[in-house]
Amino acid sequence: MSDLVLRVDKPAHGGSCVGRSDGRVVFCRHSLPGEMVAAQVTGESSRFLRADAIEVLANPNPARRASPCEWFGPGLCGGCSWLHAEPEEQRRLKEQVLAETLQRIAGISREPVVIPLGLERGWRTRMTLHADPTGRLGLHTSRSDHIVAVGDCLQAAPELDLPELLERRWPPGAEVRVSVSDAGRAVMAVQADGRRQIEGVEEHLYVVGGRQFACSTDGFWQSHTLAPATLVDEVRTLVEPARTIVDLYAGVGLFGLSLLDEHVEQMVLVEGDRRAAAFARRNAAGDPRVRVIGSDVRRWRPSGADLVVLDPPRAGAGGKVVSAIAGSGAATIVYVSCEPSTLARDLGLFADHGYRPDHIRGFDLFPGTAHVETVVRLRKEST
Ligand SMILES: C[S@@+](CC[C@H](N)C(=O)[O-])C[C@H]1O[C@@H](n2cnc3c(N)ncnc32)[C@H](O)[C@@H]1O
Repeated sequence: MSDLVLRVDKPAHGGSCVGRSDGRVVFCRHSLPGEMVAAQVTGESSRFLRADAIEVLANPNPARRASPCEWFGPGLCGGCSWLHAEPEEQRRLKEQVLAETLQRIAGISREPVVIPLGLERGWRTRMTLHADPTGRLGLHTSRSDHIVAVGDCLQAAPELDLPELLERRWPPGAEVRVSVSDAGRAVMAVQADGRRQIEGVEEHLYVVGGRQFACSTDGFWQSHTLAPATLVDEVRTLVEPARTIVDLYAGVGLFGLSLLDEHVEQMVLVEGDRRAAAFARRNAAGDPRVRVIGSDVRRWRPSGADLVVLDPPRAGAGGKVVSAIAGSGAATIVYVSCEPSTLARDLGLFADHGYRPDHIRGFDLFPGTAHVETVVRLRKEST
């Protein structure tokens, strides 16, 4: 039985469409723009409701399709948000959300495209699953830690061999992290009391643009199998030769080390995770031009730089880091972001320091989900 009947309009951040009921805003998942739906309320705050569309009553969006995943739907796995839309429509929705977020938060009027990577299934090289009280693995429902049993996941790279993990029984409450690379598969089960059980390879190896990157099996690496090469290509094409480069939130050095060419005299990588910083040092393969600083970026004190690349986590960089980057005097900044709202906030902060974006492009690194990756180049305005 439905709680609401509403007509939804534009897509919102987080994978829902916006409607109204009795004057209240409703963020409705499983709907598409223009549809009249019957919906069930799933959450409430003083300002808005959250709901799941359970039936399209009228005006089905022409891009609606049957979900290719049987575990996607109201009350089921929350890992994806837009599987009920054709892939081209998913990208249009992400473009709309990105453009609207940049306008609303930073006053930037652009219509960035979101580029597909050409792989809608089997793209994810790392995943976390959760063991329910019976020891069966599953995935979380939307905005909850309720575990839904699944039989497979179309995001998962075949090499993760999810069906094999799903057949087994695990300690109830365990988190099971599985990842693959050219080195093989790694599985780490972390129990509720912190005990770890590890099988498979001990570290990962990836080759991007002819350069080898080692990384820990549970450390950060771009999860879409085509993402590292795609993003490195984008960053490379956006920058001119630079003598001094800083890569902030560097991870194991993907962007910085990929920019090492004969023009570079000095490169600084800053990464807060100690193990990732150690891998970045190793990945630099003794190149004397590279210095890896294992520190919180907020403690980084800039020396001069021609180019700064930053790729922060979802929280973005924030005022202190933006001021420090501006203090480096960099003529060009490339900002790689996985969260449009904090990107927009930070672009507003960069504008206060005279940096304006001259290139904004999205990439669909997370097909089926509501997430979008954005690459922005900023130039220092001449004063
Ligand atoms: C989105 S990842 C990007 C890593 C790398 N650019 C890549 O593409 O592989 C963000 C990285 O920032 C690091 N990080 C998060 N917060 C940080 C902080 N405050 N200071 C330094 N590093 C941080 C994380 O450990 C992670 O490696």
